[in-house]
Order: sequence, then structure tokens, then C-alpha cells
Amino acid sequence: MEIIHLSAECYPVAKVGGLGDVVGALPKYQNKLGHFAKVVMPAYNVPFLQENDFEVVYDAWGNLGERSYPVRVLREKTNKLGFDLYLVYIEGLTDRDKVYGYDDDTERFLAYQIAVLDWINQWEHRPDVIHCHDHHTGLVPFMTANCERYKSLRDIPTVFTIHNAQYQGQFGWDKLYYLPALDLWKAGLLGWEEDINPLASAIKCAWRVTTVSPTYLDELSYQANGLEGLLASERGKSAGILNGIDFEVWDPKTDPMLEKTYTSRTVESGKKTNKAALCDVFNLDPTKPLFTFIGRLVGEKGADLLPDIFHNALAHSRGNINILVLGSGDRMIEGKLEELKNWFPGNYNAYIGYNEKLSHQIYAGADFLLMPSRVEPCGLNQMYALRYGTIPIVRRIGGLKDTVVDIGDGGFGICHDQTSVWDVGQAMGRAYELYQNKKRIKDILKYTMQLDHSWDRAAQQYIDLYQI
Ligand code: ADP
Ligand code: GLC
Repeated sequence: MEIIHLSAECYPVAKVGGLGDVVGALPKYQNKLGHFAKVVMPAYNVPFLQENDFEVVYDAWGNLGERSYPVRVLREKTNKLGFDLYLVYIEGLTDRDKVYGYDDDTERFLAYQIAVLDWINQWEHRPDVIHCHDHHTGLVPFMTANCERYKSLRDIPTVFTIHNAQYQGQFGWDKLYYLPALDLWKAGLLGWEEDINPLASAIKCAWRVTTVSPTYLDELSYQANGLEGLLASERGKSAGILNGIDFEVWDPKTDPMLEKTYTSRTVESGKKTNKAALCDVFNLDPTKPLFTFIGRLVGEKGADLLPDIFHNALAHSRGNINILVLGSGDRMIEGKLEELKNWFPGNYNAYIGYNEKLSHQIYAGADFLLMPSRVEPCGLNQMYALRYGTIPIVRRIGGLKDTVVDIGDGGFGICHDQTSVWDVGQAMGRAYELYQNKKRIKDILKYTMQLDHSWDRAAQQYIDLYQI
């Protein structure tokens, strides 16, 4: 099958969070199954664009209402990612340093979606499926079905994956004129409540909807940032498919970013060396258990509670634990996490910012990874942690519930029920006790490092879904 993935992120080209990891891996694994999956994403000003060779495969003018601009589609020449990568360059709109966060993000992603469809529209053949990821691509299912300009694309099935329903990309009806001419009596398919809502529109118009874990699909019928009713009513065409992880990029046996590589057989000594190197850089004590948090510092992740959780844990443990944070996001949380450094030097440290290499080193060097998320559609961090022999401490929610089993239930992680200072504190206490039992830890790590969370299974599940 020929599968076109549309996404705002794709690792290693541009990544903000797990969406990038998924779109950088799933097509590769689909190709390994004998299909022809491609990624078409916006061309940002990222090093990948400068450091690689591209050819122009489409050169035209695009428009948003009356505003017109040059559009170019560039193809990466070597297929080095394991799939064909196409970057859509739109002068003045995609060519920015960051992926998101601009006042005109609505215009940027709408122009990208229109440019993609204009390009595919003039192909001589038709792909078998267009697979859209998150709200930045959410108007594609509506446009292929209802815009006169794309009537020849009408029969291409569209699949829409919800990676996170908290972000919906709403904008006002005054911008309706940006879209190519459409049947106005179908305009209701664009909206939700007062606005045009790309996520809601995709849920209504896509041929199939998927979520990134089965539990998240269930949760969305009662917690979906206002879209609960819609998701419940579209349940019949929806499926929950658990994400995998890229076993080539995330492999402690070969990972070039680590101080020392290791396997489940050499996990004890391997982690010891990585932990020592990490503790050396961050002025921590390698003989104490190392707890970590890696991620976006936002409410969804429970990050607003981290300063209090860490303050309590560090105060009560009397210097017997270490904590290291890697993250960025909300300025207030960043500030509080920075401030804690003054209170607990030698036991606490934080790197505020984004650092891919450091994230690998922490998965390898830490003992426990905290994920006290309020919402977690899938979560990849816990799967990376498991593969690198770090025990996850997670809230029982979304994909965390689908991937982590508590040690009390014969499993390998530590689970808690609420995103609260108390619950996380208790869970850290259980982790501290577990840490004292070296034999048990060793057995758990040997087991978790061999768990198969690779994309092989899920890549096939998507293929099965396309073929129904
Ligand atoms: P989300 O997509 O909601 O942020 P996921 O668990 O799916 O959560 O994926 C997060 C991804 O982003 C992981 O690959 C994680 O290692 C990475 N990540 C998050 N924050 C940072 C950071 N500050 N530096 C490096 N990597 C980060
Ligand atoms: C989103 C979710 C996260 C998920 C990721 C990849 O960013 O917040 O839970 O793992 O997408 O699907």
C-alpha cells in the first residue's frame, strides 16, 4: 500500500514531543512490512534541512484567501530515514526556527495542509490512504471530502490519529475564507461550539479515527476537553492502537549517546557507569537512588506539582535520594524547579531546556522515572525507561495503564492513582524500599529490558485498519 503520513513533527527532522518520535518510526516499520509509507511535513528552518540533500519535486503558487505565496515540495534524496521524506516549504509561513508557538500558527498549518492537497491533486496516481496526525492536519479529511478543488481525491480513505485531544487548533469562522471553495451546507462539519475546530472536524470527517492507546480511547468519552460527546458518537469508527518505540534509535546496546552501552545481561555494570557519569556532571551522589522526570513542564504532565513533590521527598529523605529533572515549558514551573537547586545542592539538579542526548543519558543512568500525568494518551518515556532498565513510577491513566504493571501485582513498575503530592510521595517511598532489594531490582530490569514494545506489532495493526 502507499501510505502518506501528514504531521507537524517527525524525528529527527523536527521533534517537540512524542508525536515526532511516532511519525519518525511508524512509516519505517510499515515499509519493513513491504509497504510504501512516506512522510510529508512542513519545512522549518531546522539543521536537518541544511545538512541534507533535497530535490524540488513541486514548485507552484499557493494561496490562503487573497494572500498568495510560493510553495515548494522538497524530497530528501537518500531515503536515509527508512522512508521518503517530503518537506513542504511555504515562503513566510513554514520557514521558522520553531515548530509551534507563533501567532499565525493557524495560517501556517492551514497553508501546509492546502499545499499538500494541491500537490497530491496533480499526481497521476492516487495513494491508498492519507494518514493524518493531530489537529495540524485535521482539516484534510474535511477538504478532501468537501472542497470542489479536491474532488478527485474524494475516494482516498483518510485516517486520523489523536495523539492528544487537549490541543484542538480552534480558530474563528472569520477565517473560513482561507479554505478552498466548499459546499457551504457542509460547513457544520468544520465546527464545534463557537469555532472552526480542526480536531473535531477530523473526528467527524475521517474514514477512521485512532487513539494512541486503548485506554485513552475509553477515557475520551468522559474526558476530552469538550469533545466527549462527539468522540462517544464516533466510537464505531474508532480504534485504540498502542504506540511502539523505535528499537533502532532507542537501544542501550548500541546507543551512541551513552557513556557505556549495555544489554539486559550487563545491565548492572552498564547502568552504574552511566549513572556515575551523569552524577558527575550534575553534582549528585551515585550511591543514592536517582529519580528523574523528563518532559514538557505543563499541567497535563502533572509538572506543576513537581516542585512540592521534590521538596517534600528531599526534605524527608535526609539526603538519601537524588533527583534530576530535564524539561521545559511553563515559565513559573521552570523557575520553581531552578530555585530548588539552592535548597538541595548535591541531591537535586535540573536542566531546563530541550536536550535529546541528555534524555538518552538519563534513561540510561537513572533508577526511577516519574510520570504523574493528569492526561497521558500513550506516553513513550515509560517505554524508553523500561528498555533502558529504569523503573517507571506512573499514574494509572491512558497509555501508562496499558504499559506498566505494578510490582504489587506481579509486575515491574510502581503505579499510583492520583496526580497528587501525597500519592506521588507514597510511590517514591515504595521505590526507595524497592531500591534496597538489589536482587529484586536486578530481576525486574532483566525482565523489563526484554519487553517487546517495538513498532512491529502496531505497524501491522495500522495496516490491518487501512485494509478493513
Ligand atoms: P509528549 O508527546 O506528551 O510530550 P511522550 O511521552 O509521548 O510525551 O514523548 C515525549 C518525548 O519527548 C520523549 O521522546 C522524551 O524523551 C522527549 N522529551 C520531552 N522533553 C524533553 C526534553 N526537555 N529534552 C529532551 N527530550 C525531551
Ligand atoms: C502526545 C501524547 C503522548 C503520546 C504522544 C505520541 O504528545 O501527549 O502521550 O505518547 O502524543 O503519540
